[in-house]
Amino acid sequence: MPTLVEQFNDYVNAGFAGLWIQTNEPDEAEQEILRHGASRKWTVIAWDVSRGLRAGETVVADSGGDPVAALRALPTRNEAKQTTLLLLHNFHRFLGNPEVVQAVFGNLVTGKKRGNFLVVLAPLVQMPPELEKLFVVIEHALPGPDQLERIAHELLCDDADTMPRGAELARILEAASGLTRYEAEGAFALSVARHNRIRPDVIWELKAQLLRKNNLLTLHRGAERFESLGGLQNLKDFCVRALAPGKPVKPRGILLLGVPGSGKSAFCKALGNETGRATLLLDIGALLGSLVGQTESNLRQALRIAEAMAPCILFVDEFEKALSGVGSQGDSGVSTRMFGTLLTWLSDHTADVFFVGTSNDISKLPPEFARAERFDGVFFLDLPNVAERDAIWAMYRQHFGIPEKQARPDDSAWTGAEIRACCRLATLLDVPLTQAARNVVPVAVTAAEQVERLRTWATGRCLSSGNPGIFGREDESTPKPSRRLQRGQGSNN
Ligand SMILES: Nc1ncnc2c1ncn2[C@@H]1O[C@H](COP(=O)(O)OP(=O)(O)OP(=O)(O)O)[C@@H](O)[C@H]1O
Ligand SMILES: [Mg+2]
Repeated sequence: MPTLVEQFNDYVNAGFAGLWIQTNEPDEAEQEILRHGASRKWTVIAWDVSRGLRAGETVVADSGGDPVAALRALPTRNEAKQTTLLLLHNFHRFLGNPEVVQAVFGNLVTGKKRGNFLVVLAPLVQMPPELEKLFVVIEHALPGPDQLERIAHELLCDDADTMPRGAELARILEAASGLTRYEAEGAFALSVARHNRIRPDVIWELKAQLLRKNNLLTLHRGAERFESLGGLQNLKDFCVRALAPGKPVKPRGILLLGVPGSGKSAFCKALGNETGRATLLLDIGALLGSLVGQTESNLRQALRIAEAMAPCILFVDEFEKALSGVGSQGDSGVSTRMFGTLLTWLSDHTADVFFVGTSNDISKLPPEFARAERFDGVFFLDLPNVAERDAIWAMYRQHFGIPEKQARPDDSAWTGAEIRACCRLATLLDVPLTQAARNVVPVAVTAAEQVERLRTWATGRCLSSGNPGIFGREDESTPKPSRRLQRGQGSNN
């Protein structure tokens, strides 16, 4: 992606008089533009409400906080065609005022002829309809590895020996990816204050906190591995192969459909550890709850952070819940638009972000979503078959210290979650497994229709998570719930 300055330069050369830079770091953007402007001999002045007009560091006397006065500062006759830029900090705040809007409009219409450019620096893109067609929007990207390294250098310039190098530096830059310049500086400084050097763990810790603060993305840090999940062999193999480093094409992502308790969420959490990628959880529910109008920009921001953190995994759990408003009335189109943004991103993103979406109710998913070509694979996680159940039992017997010889209950139509629950209860209540099983009501019974619908839908459409190839009912090895089960109780012998 071209840098801010490169994009900026092209637009100025092409005579776009209105430039809207979406940035969380207006001062940094200003510095970049000032440096570039100096090399091109442009005149650059800046305005913000508290400092008034500034030319470089010099404050223009008595310019004050009046936005209209600031706009009048641009030359009205400019025979020499000197390029003049007026940088307006957080100007979205003033565009509710008709006088300001008209002044901006007037400047933009005549700007090209006079060589005057208005440059808004704001964290979001929000303008009245009169101005929409007059601004081009440029995103101020988060800093890349080079810039982050420079920030570390600047911080450690007094003590250059402590500047990390090689693999250590790479780990630090990976940890700092997705942070703004300001945040990265803070994270490095915190680490130096604590340990006298920059350490990746301190940066990860701070990054996790920062992500939590914006409430949209959470960094998952856990110790889960594939070996704690029985079955799902095809899915595991597929992902490990697709995410191996050094591939000529970048993986896009997968969709996991499945019965509740079949291990979808558990799988995603282990995937990051298995493949050495950071796992980001995107909470679409929280996103929708955010202020209307900000939802999409929040989503974009979350996607930008994910891109800056590439290679990583972006995990959206149970997204059908959040997207169920799509196409319906009453949500003022917010989920529809957000869904559109997400779909476009899924098809277009070039960064190495592996998307994993899970769902246990296909009927709530808009059909476009499940179209296979958006993903590298759409997998169905069925109830585990006999061999898979054996593996899961063995795992949880060991985990909960239940002897091998103790008889196990009739577990046909049980999910992994139910086997785990049974073992846990046996330990908790100090009873044999068969007795603990009386307290387990399988989802195949409680949600029989839903499970049935899912399986029917998945047949011929989804990849099997257990065996290579497409999921089909004929190779479904799990028996239907028995009559006894359907009467509503977990069975025991
Ligand atoms: N194949 C499995 N092997 C071992 N444990 C499993 C397996 N499947 C599920 N479990 C256990 O069951 C618990 C619940 O699974 P998980 O939350 O991943 O299910 P899910 O498919 O995401 O369900 P939901 O659709 O309700 O979100 C997990 O903590 C996990 O320990
Ligand atoms: Mg889940």
